Amino acid sequence: MKHIISAAVLASSLIAAPAMADLALAKKSGCLACHSVEKKVVGPAWKDVATKYKGDAGARDAIIAKVKKGGKGNWTEVTGGIPMPPYSPRVADADIETLVDFVLGL
Ligand code: HEC
Repeated sequence: MKHIISAAVLASSLIAAPAMADLALAKKSGCLACHSVEKKVVGPAWKDVATKYKGDAGARDAIIAKVKKGGKGNWTEVTGGIPMPPYSPRVADADIETLVDFVLGL
């Protein structure tokens, strides 16, 4: 029984490792001031963002552009129309792409 539990803990920590790195990057980049994975903060919950764009092939590029330049209008009913601030060049393009892939993969 102990073995089964520790195997399960090990497996879940292996799965969680890349997500932890992505969350650390999100924290470092300042995203977590307005976002969390599970809940709306100022911006929409990132799980809700992933659900909204599931199966939308064009979404990745549009969202990368949105994080770079800022913008509003996609989540007005959730945020009351608060805009997302621009992140380029404060956050490197490669980091923005990593963050968007993380969010869309949730
Ligand atoms: C000052 C608050 C704030 C910060 C900080 C912030 N966001 Fe946002 N974010 C928002 C708001 C508000 C929206 C909703 C915009 C809209 O209505 O289209 C949003 C929307 C988004 C979306 C969905 C975009 C869409 O068009 O559906 C993503 C993805 C996102 N943010 C990622 C990030 C990332 C990555 C960072 C850090 C680099 C970040 N946000 C930092 C407020 C913030």
